[in-house]
Amino acid sequence: MNVDDVDSITVLGAGNMGHGIAEVAALAGYDVVLRDIEDEFVQQGYDKIEWSLNKLAEKDRLSQDDADAALARVSTAVDLGEAVADADVVIEAVPEKMAIKKEVYAELEEYAPDHAVFATNTSSLSITELSEVTERPERFCGMHFFNPPVRMDLVEVISGAHTADETLDLVEDLAESMGKTPVRVRKDSPGFIVNRILVPLMNEAAWIVHAGDATMAEVDATTKYDMGLPMGSFELADYVGIDVGYHVLEYMHEVLGDAYEPCPLLSEKVEEGDLGQKTGAGFYDYE
Ligand code: CAA
Repeated sequence: MNVDDVDSITVLGAGNMGHGIAEVAALAGYDVVLRDIEDEFVQQGYDKIEWSLNKLAEKDRLSQDDADAALARVSTAVDLGEAVADADVVIEAVPEKMAIKKEVYAELEEYAPDHAVFATNTSSLSITELSEVTERPERFCGMHFFNPPVRMDLVEVISGAHTADETLDLVEDLAESMGKTPVRVRKDSPGFIVNRILVPLMNEAAWIVHAGDATMAEVDATTKYDMGLPMGSFELADYVGIDVGYHVLEYMHEVLGDAYEPCPLLSEKVEEGDLGQKTGAGFYDYE
């Protein structure tokens, strides 16, 4: 299969990343099915796509006709069999937990068409380990988007130990067809490239504040104004979800060692359910 043979893409998980990936795929002209485990979650994801497309039109980043046409290409599903019946590519963006993802892949393998390629949007987990749950490890790779997918150009295309070159070529072409710039990551190591750099940056920022060496506002001012990043470390943690960064760190800590020990400031926020913008509070308040 090459990219011209791809008509239909199913995105599993309608959260922050899933809805954004579905939006990007629909904008590129693919028929998209957005699937989550409950009607309410799918509807929330669909509403966010609608909001985002209208916002892009309002900002003259695309025409209202193109926004409407993209939305018309998105359908929703809860039933997994129905969601993947016509899928050429399945992009999985369910929570960043190995056990949850493995469960999803085991079930997915029962319903997905034989020719379909599986791409996981995992931020850190082993592509090889996930691929081994399926019967198609050669047609399995990482396709890691960044938040918000509709605005961020980079996509990491990650090879697992069993991934065929044809799969990587296809997924890179797919990313390009969505207007993205793919970077091939040959080594399946925790956090790949971007999160191996970015998440320890967020963690170190938290350790500095935890030690009382600087305030959150001071740390954010330096990352934003001196280092030239678009958001401060704490603003970014709130934006991507403190839980997302924390789960990446937990995994890096487990596999790569103590240098990646998550700061208690992060675990406390996760325990309290203050996960950032999506819950209305994180390091900053959004009410
Ligand atoms: N769709 C459409 N519009 C959106 C949007 C979306 N998804 N998200 C925000 N907007 C809107 C805002 O509502 C705002 O509109 P108003 O002005 O009407 O309020 C507008 O976009 C802001 O856009 P601007 O271009 O004016 O603002 P900006 O230049 O600050 O860009 C940004 C916004 C692109 C998010 C920028 O701040 C940025 O690049 N931030 C860093 C993001 C980043 O680093 N992402 C990677 C995170 S790491 C990750 O994702 C990996 C992982 O695995 C953890």
